[in-house]
Amino acid sequence: MSTVPAQDFAGRVALITGAGNGIGRETARQLAARGAVVAVNDLKPEFVEAVVAEIRAAGGQAFGVVQNIASREGIQAAVAQAREQGGRFDVLVNNAAWVRYQAVPDIQPDTLERMLDVGFKAVIWGTQAAAAAMDPERGGAIVNVASTAALRSTLNSVVYSGIKAGILGLTRAAAAELGVRHIRVNAVCPSAVPTEGTQRNRNAERDALRIARTPLGRLGTVEDIARGICFLASDQAGFISAQTLAVDGGVTFTNL
Ligand SMILES: NC(=O)c1ccc[n+]([C@@H]2O[C@H](COP(=O)([O-])OP(=O)(O)OC[C@H]3O[C@@H](n4cnc5c(N)ncnc54)[C@H](O)[C@@H]3O)[C@@H](O)[C@H]2O)c1
Repeated sequence: MSTVPAQDFAGRVALITGAGNGIGRETARQLAARGAVVAVNDLKPEFVEAVVAEIRAAGGQAFGVVQNIASREGIQAAVAQAREQGGRFDVLVNNAAWVRYQAVPDIQPDTLERMLDVGFKAVIWGTQAAAAAMDPERGGAIVNVASTAALRSTLNSVVYSGIKAGILGLTRAAAAELGVRHIRVNAVCPSAVPTEGTQRNRNAERDALRIARTPLGRLGTVEDIARGICFLASDQAGFISAQTLAVDGGVTFTNL
């Protein structure tokens, strides 16, 4: 079997928010390996440079979009740059998030606002900007990165679970509205996977508990999640819209 991935994204332009690290970075790598021209967004220029360099070194096509997407202007500018520099606009992966876990009495206005700006409002403004940037005939795909926390809640996650559950609702509503323009909108729900962003909430004991409760008997990886995102963005999912795909080793809908 060939180890070279199919070039099924050849000629397509894909913008991934928060692609400087973690799940976003791996999604950028996989889309580029499948032929996409990847617009690598992050607010940290050094992360963007590193990911773009890595993709180019592997023979892929990428350019950097350094932009804070926590405002309507920011995500609009990111989409506009991707469209202009790439020459077209096909795929948006709304991946960026800024996350704090706080118990109900500890929730503060500044953390709530920032989580909403990066993790929720940017998905709405991004959907608006991407839909306008996509070719009306050809359409495109939007993949929103939610979380299994949207489906099954845990402690200290009123804000996080609320935002991610909201993303599933807006995914379905956007799919309803944008289907007429051949735009598919779907969401992935990753379970906990080791990344920079989750480091502070992980320890060996918690990981062991998660593994014991997971039918597939291991933690997920960023590669696992990125494969789910790429599937939903690809033509293989050409008749799939308004869906939520849990990429979680089976942990969310089972009870071990
Ligand atoms: N890692 C997990 O276990 C897990 C589980 C479920 C869901 N998720 C979701 O997956 C997504 C990615 O998570 P991750 O763990 O890879 O995160 P991460 O923290 O490792 O990376 C996120 C990236 O987003 C960037 N970013 C943050 N705010 C930004 C902004 N305003 N503008 C542009 N870039 C910004 C950061 O600089 C960082 O490079 C998030 O939506 C997260 O909620 C992650």
